[in-house]
Amino acid sequence: MAPIVRVQNFMLSRDGFGSGEGQSLERPFGHADPAVLAGWMLATAHWPGRPEPGGTYGLDDYFTRDFANHVGAEIMGRNKFGPQRGPWEDHDWRGWWGDEPPFHTPVFVLTHHERPSFALGDTTFHFLEATPEDALARAMEAADGKDVRIGGGVATVREFLEADLIDTLHVVVVPTELGRGERLWHGPEDLLGRFHHEQVPSPSGVVHHLFWRR
Ligand SMILES: NC(=O)c1ccc[n+]([C@@H]2O[C@H](COP(=O)([O-])OP(=O)(O)OC[C@H]3O[C@@H](n4cnc5c(N)ncnc54)[C@H](OP(=O)(O)O)[C@@H]3O)[C@@H](O)[C@H]2O)c1
Repeated sequence: MAPIVRVQNFMLSRDGFGSGEGQSLERPFGHADPAVLAGWMLATAHWPGRPEPGGTYGLDDYFTRDFANHVGAEIMGRNKFGPQRGPWEDHDWRGWWGDEPPFHTPVFVLTHHERPSFALGDTTFHFLEATPEDALARAMEAADGKDVRIGGGVATVREFLEADLIDTLHVVVVPTELGRGERLWHGPEDLLGRFHHEQVPSPSGVVHHLFWRR
């Protein structure tokens, strides 16, 4: 199968926000509670951070499992990688994810501020100032025949949508309201001109939205 460009397991509040306001070291999602946004995933059997066996094997688990399936590289924005802004003061910060980041592929971090690549576990982070088209060309080459995931945050997903580079999008609408923060959409209807759309409610209370190119 030809490789595609995917947004996967991207979580939104019911009012359209993918992150809250006021990101900091202590609050990677700003005023949004990550346990609320990601609760559907944390409850599944295939959540990689699960401390002990257990968890659900239903619909939410299928999506959790699919996060890494056939993905050969990720592109993320600098604010997903960390809370710093402006030039890097040092290179001590190596992302939120500890010594074994959950990507296991090359990751291209879009930033206007230069920084050398480094490897952590089997993930390699590269820092890139590039147009979406050029970043995608780099990531596709690194993905070596597999898909490229656009990992967020919100501004990065919006940027790739605006450049019309996304083939499929999986958005998880969580039954919570954030009121402010980084907004992806006013509703799924924003994307219907360009994408087919299915929405599938999960018994956990979230709604999975699947979009693919018309
Ligand atoms: N809801 C979810 O599923 C989900 C998923 C992932 C992340 N998040 C959350 O989303 C938030 C981050 O999202 P965000 O919208 O604030 O920002 P973001 O998309 O992570 O990063 C945006 C930043 O990336 C850099 N950038 C983007 N495009 C670029 C380009 N073409 N060339 C060079 N640099 C470029 C710029 O930073 P500089 O100019 O500073 O370099 C820009 O300010 C975090 O709170 C994170 O936890 C949520």
